[in-house]
Amino acid sequence: MESLLSDWSASHGEKFEKEVVNFGHDLNETGLFTDEALIELLEKHPSESLDVCTMGDPDHPVYPNSFRTGDFRGVSGEVLIEAAKAGKVWINIRNGMNIHPEYKAVLDRMYGDLGKAIDQKPYNARGGILISSPIAQVPYHFDKTHIILWHVRGKKRIYIYPQTEKFIPDTAYEAKMLRYLDDDLPYTSEFDEHAQVFDLEDGQAVSWPLNAPHRVDNREFCVSVTTEYSTTESKIKNANMVANATMRHRFGIKSSYRESSQTQRKLKSLLGYAVKKVGLVPKDELFDMVTFKIDPAASNFIADIEPFERNF
Ligand SMILES: [Fe+2]
Repeated sequence: MESLLSDWSASHGEKFEKEVVNFGHDLNETGLFTDEALIELLEKHPSESLDVCTMGDPDHPVYPNSFRTGDFRGVSGEVLIEAAKAGKVWINIRNGMNIHPEYKAVLDRMYGDLGKAIDQKPYNARGGILISSPIAQVPYHFDKTHIILWHVRGKKRIYIYPQTEKFIPDTAYEAKMLRYLDDDLPYTSEFDEHAQVFDLEDGQAVSWPLNAPHRVDNREFCVSVTTEYSTTESKIKNANMVANATMRHRFGIKSSYRESSQTQRKLKSLLGYAVKKVGLVPKDELFDMVTFKIDPAASNFIADIEPFERNF
C-alpha cells in the first residue's frame, strides 16, 4: 500500500520531535473525512466521547467569551455538520480514530508509515477528529504529550512558540500537571513575533517538539485529525513536573526541570510516579455544565437552556 505521508525527506526524519516539521499526507483520499462519511461517523460515535461546543459572544448576557458545552442528543449528524458550517459551533470526536475499525486502520497506516519514515517502531497513538469553524480559536497552550496535527479540510493557521522559560515557565507546567490551573499559559501578543506560523491547507500535517506552546485560528469550516502519543521522554518529564510541583507546594522546595541532569530527571521521575500512586495529586474534579442545545430553528443553531451537569 502506498505511504500516507508525502513530501517527506531524510531531513524531516532528522528534525522530527526536535524541531517543527511540516509534511504532506493523503488522508483525504481515504474517503473518511467527507461530509457524508463524517455524518455517518457522528451518528455512531458514543455520545460520552463527543463534544459539541461554542464560545459565548462578547455581548452574551450570561456567557460572554466563555467556553460552552452543548447538548446534541437527538440531533442528526447532518444537522451537526450544518451547525459547524454555520460558524459558531465546533465538534470534537474524541478517540474517533481509535474507536471505529475503518478509522483505526487509517491511524495504524499513519503511524506505520511514520515509523518507517523515522526508522522506529510505530508509536501507540490516540487520535481525535476535530470539525471546527471560525469561532473555534484554540488559545495559547501546551500539551503534555507529543502531538501531530493532520489537517484535512479548510484553512487553519497555527502559531508555534519556543519552549524557553519565557514562553512556558516550569511553574505553569507543574500547575497543569496538578490542575491548579486550567490550560491557560500566560500569553501576550508580543510572543507572536517569536512564533513559527503555518497556514495549513488540505493535506498538510505539522508536528513540533514536546510541549512547544501553540495556538490555532480556524479561518473557515475545517476538518483535522489530531493524534497524540507518549514517549519515555514525555513520561519522565511529566513525572518530574509532578514531583517538583509537590515539593514546591507541600515542602517549599524549589527545583527546576530545565536545570536538572538526565540522571536527576530519571530519579525524580520515580518520586513523581510514587506521588501519583499514593494520591497526593488532587483528583480532577472539574464540572462540565451543559448550557445550550443544538437547535436548527435557533440563530446559529444555538439555543440557551437551563444549565445542568453533563450526564451523557
Ligand atoms: Fe494543542
